[in-house]
Amino acid sequence: MVSVRKFQLCLWAMCISFEGLTVPFPPRNVTIEVATHHVIVKWDPPIEPNDAITIYVVSYSILPDLRVTINYVTDGSRFSLIPVEGREGRLFKIQVQAQNKVGLGNPSAARYARIGCGKTLWLNPSASTPLIYPETEGNYNSGILCQWTLFTKETCFFRITFVTLQLMVPDNKPCIEDYVTIGNKEHFCHAQEEERIVVCRDSKATVIFNSDIWAPGKRFNLLIMSIKLPGPPSLSYTLSSDNAIILKLSPPTELTLPLSGYVIRYSILPDGPTFSKIMKPNMFHFSINTKHVEGKVILMNVTARIYDIEGVTSNLLKVRAQCQRNIVLEPNGATDIYSPNYPNHYPLGIICTWRIRAKRDVPLSVKFLDFQLEDSYRCTGDYITISTNPDEKFCGAILPFRIIETDVASLDVTFISNNEDQKSGFHLQVLARGTSVQVLALPQYKLPSHKYRCSIVLALPS
Ligand SMILES: *[C@@H]1O[C@H](CO)[C@@H](O)[C@H](O)[C@H]1NC(C)=O
Ligand SMILES: *[C@@H]1O[C@H](CO)[C@@H](O)[C@H](O)[C@H]1NC(C)=O
Repeated sequence: MVSVRKFQLCLWAMCISFEGLTVPFPPRNVTIEVATHHVIVKWDPPIEPNDAITIYVVSYSILPDLRVTINYVTDGSRFSLIPVEGREGRLFKIQVQAQNKVGLGNPSAARYARIGCGKTLWLNPSASTPLIYPETEGNYNSGILCQWTLFTKETCFFRITFVTLQLMVPDNKPCIEDYVTIGNKEHFCHAQEEERIVVCRDSKATVIFNSDIWAPGKRFNLLIMSIKLPGPPSLSYTLSSDNAIILKLSPPTELTLPLSGYVIRYSILPDGPTFSKIMKPNMFHFSINTKHVEGKVILMNVTARIYDIEGVTSNLLKVRAQCQRNIVLEPNGATDIYSPNYPNHYPLGIICTWRIRAKRDVPLSVKFLDFQLEDSYRCTGDYITISTNPDEKFCGAILPFRIIETDVASLDVTFISNNEDQKSGFHLQVLARGTSVQVLALPQYKLPSHKYRCSIVLALPS
C-alpha cells in the first residue's frame, strides 16, 4: 500500500476525483511526559490515510548539544520512551515524523521537556546539611536547571555557606549565565562567595542552579543550616521624673545563635510619628524623651535580631507620657495655667494635670481668663475637670472671668483632648486666698456686658 491523497476538482456540477501520492503529514497531538526513568513521547497518526505509515521516527537532542538521536517505532505503536538517567536538569528537544513508502514526512512542531533535577531537603534546625552538585564525580553539564526545595520546622531562616563555588565565571562578569540563586533573589557565581542569609516564607526556600549553554563549569558545595527565629524579648517600662520613659528589655529564651541586636519601635498616638532604633545586643535599657509629646499615648515594642533578620515581636506596650505640673501657692499667691501650645492649637489625644496646693491650708479659686475648647454635648470631646467636682466637665467656650470658688487648699485641674478637633485652649488662673480671711461666697452678679467691672478689695490686718 502506498499513501494516497484524494483530490477533487469540480467544475459546474461535475466533479472528477483523482489520487496523488505523497509523504505523510506530521503526526498530530505530540505530547511529552517526564516520568521517573523516561520521557514518554505520545502522538496521534497524521490525518488520513493512517494505515499507510510504515515507521515513526522520534528524534531528540539534549540542548545545547544539537546532535540528534533517533528512536524508530516500527510496530505501529504511538509512543516512544527516551531514557533520562544521567540527564537530570537537561532540556530535551523532541520531534516526531511519520514515514510511508513514498518517504519521510515533515517533523511535528518541536516539543521541549526539562528533566527534573534536585531534591527536597528536610532540615533539622541548627544542623548543617550539605548540598553538592553534581553529586557524582566530575563536572556539571551545560544547559542545566536544578531546583532543591528546603523545608524546615517552624518559622526560621537559612544560613547558606558556600564551601566551594566553582562555576568558572570570571570575577568581573555578572552572574547571569551560570549561577546559584536562593529564594530566587540574588544570583551567586563567583568563587569568593562566603555566607548568605535567606529569610524563608512558610518554613520553605528554594535553591536553583542554572548553567548556560556556553562555558563549562565544575561544581559547587553548599552547607545549609536552618536557624530558628528569635522569640519575643520581654518589655517593661518605668516613668522617670524627668519626662522620660525608660524601657527595660530582656532577651528571648532558647536562642540558637547569638543575637546581633534589637529593634525598638515606638509611635506617638494618634497622629505619629513612628520611630525605630537599633540597639546593641548587650543593651537592655532604652529611654524615650517625652518632653515634646507630654500627655500623649506612646506604643512600643521590640524585636530581637540575628544577623539582620528580625524575630518575633514582643508584647505591645501602651504608655501615656507624663504631663503633670505640681504648683505650690503662698497665701494670696496666684498661678497661670495654659493649655499646651496656648494660644495655638493644643495637641490631640493628651491628658495633662496641674496639681495645685496652697500653703497654710488657704482655699483656692479658679478663674477662667480664656477658654476655647471643642464644644460637644455633655462635653464628650475635649474638656477640663476640677477635682473638687469631678463630675462637672467644662468644654466649648466659657465667659471670661468666671470664677469657681472652692473651700479646699489643694486641687487638680485636668485637661483631656480627644483625637479630633483642636482649638486654642485655655488660660486659667488659680488663686490662693489670704490667711486670715474666712471664706465668703461672693454674690453672683450678672452683668449686662463687659463694660462694667467690679473689684472688691478685702484688706485685713495680718
Ligand atoms: C488532536 O488534535 C486535533 C486537532 O489537530 C484535535 O481536534 C483533537 O482534539 C486532538 N486530540 C487530543 C486527544 O488531544
Ligand atoms: C510595633 O510597634 C510599631 C510602632 O508602634 C508598630 O508600627 C507595629 O505595628 C508594632 N508591631 C506589633 C506586632 O505590634
